[in-house]
Amino acid sequence: MSARVRTAVFPVAGLGTRFLPATKVIPKEMIPVIDRPVVQYAVEEARAAGIERFVFVTADGKEAIANHFSHHPVLESLLAEKNKTAELKLVTDTTLPSGALQIVKQHEPLGLGHAVWCAWKIVGDEPFAVILPDDMVLSDTPCLKQLIDAHAKVGGHVVAVENVPREATNRYGILDIDTEQGRLSKAKGLVEKPAPDQAPSTLAIIGRYVLDPIVFKELDKRTTGAGGEIQLTDALNRSLASVPFHGYRFEGKRYDCGSRVGFLEANIAFGLADASMKARLLPIIDRLVADARKSS
Ligand code: G1P
Repeated sequence: MSARVRTAVFPVAGLGTRFLPATKVIPKEMIPVIDRPVVQYAVEEARAAGIERFVFVTADGKEAIANHFSHHPVLESLLAEKNKTAELKLVTDTTLPSGALQIVKQHEPLGLGHAVWCAWKIVGDEPFAVILPDDMVLSDTPCLKQLIDAHAKVGGHVVAVENVPREATNRYGILDIDTEQGRLSKAKGLVEKPAPDQAPSTLAIIGRYVLDPIVFKELDKRTTGAGGEIQLTDALNRSLASVPFHGYRFEGKRYDCGSRVGFLEANIAFGLADASMKARLLPIIDRLVADARKSS
C-alpha cells in the first residue's frame, strides 16, 4: 500500500510565446476557458482528487497565478455589501486554504524535468502528483483521481496516457510497452519526443503524473535530453529499474490548450459540456460551420 498522494506540482513558469500578444502581461495559465483561467481547472481537478498541498513552479512576472488562489479582501467586501452572494462564492471558492499554496521559482527555462526538480524540497520523500495545466481533461471521474486510485494498487510511477496518431509522437513522451492489463500498460522504457519512425508505440504521456520521489534523485543529475532540456520522461526512464512504471488509459477526453486550435476546441467542448450553454451553442456552431463551408 503506497503513501497517500497529498501534494501536486504545477509547472507554470513558461513564457507562453505561442499565445503572444495575449501573454505579454497575462500569464498563459490565466487565459480563461469560458469563465475561469486554465490553471483553475487544474487546481479544481487536484482538489477533487484529494490534494492538499499545491506547489506552483513559477517565474517572475507570473504573480497573477498565486494571487488568483489567494484572498481578495477588497473585491470580497464589495460583493458582500452588494449582496452578490453567488458572485462572492465564485471568488471565495478559488481561495486555497492558508498554508496550502506554495511558490517555488524556476529562474531558467531548463525543461519540465528541471521545473519538477525545483519542487523537491517542498514535496519531500513521498509520492506526489504533477499536473500540466495546458492539458485539460473532461471526464466523469477527475483524471488525477483515476491515477491516484490506480497508483494505490500498483505504486511506482503512474501517468495518464492516450494513443496519438503516429505522426504526432514527436510531441510527446512515448511508452515502450511491456505488458497490458485493463487500462494499465506497464512500460519497459520511455522515449521523449521520438520521430514517428523511431517511436516504440503510439501510447503518449499526457499532463497528469503520480510519481515516486525517486525521480528527484534522477533529476538531480541534470542530464539533458531532447531539445537540450532536462526532461522528466528521461528521468522516469532511468528509474525503471527501481520502481514500476504504468501508463493509465484514463476515462475522458483530453484537450491540448498549448496550441491555438486546441485552446479553441477546449472552449467549445467545455461550453457544450455545460448544460446552461449547450442548447444555445449548438445552433450557433451549426451556423458558423455551414457559413464557413459555403465560403470555402
Ligand atoms: C511535456 C512532456 C511530454 C508529455 C507532454 C504532455 O511536453 O515533456 O513527455 O508527453 O508534456 O503534454 P511539452 O508539451 O511540454 O513539450
